[in-house]
Amino acid sequence: MSRIDLNPQEPRYLALREYTADRVDRQTQEALVYFLKQAQDIFGLVPVFAQLDASEICEFDMKIIKALIMRFPSLQGESVTHIVKVCVGDRCKGRGSPKVLSAISESLGIEVNQISSDGKYFLKTQKCFGYCREGVNVLVDNQMIHHVTLDMVDDICKKVK
Ligand code: FES
Repeated sequence: MSRIDLNPQEPRYLALREYTADRVDRQTQEALVYFLKQAQDIFGLVPVFAQLDASEICEFDMKIIKALIMRFPSLQGESVTHIVKVCVGDRCKGRGSPKVLSAISESLGIEVNQISSDGKYFLKTQKCFGYCREGVNVLVDNQMIHHVTLDMVDDICKKVK
């Protein structure tokens, strides 16, 4: 299975994500490991998008997700060097985030929820970062970039290439 074949819309994965999100108030590290293992059963490894979903749903930092994957020899996590997240929340949308997203997607040569063939970068959307007044917001790894315009897309993409 190539990296590109990992599909976050896979029905079994969607069901697993929904099941986990519905029980988020009862999340424990054990439940998180269960989620990661189930995701691996579906895809053959734990895709980056499943790691990010686990982090968002369970409110664990990505570092914890990665540490857990390292701790369990049975788990194999897909790795990526850079993660680019574009806000598609209403306020950022109103300021042009769909155009920014498609320009970033074109520049990186990948669609949303895809990882580049060299495993270097992954593109994802986020509904809101909580910095609505400063949108369009783009998060590159841990660096939040505010007031993003189309003119800035090349520089942003150079950070991860
Ligand atoms: S809508 Fe983009 S940060 Fe809130």
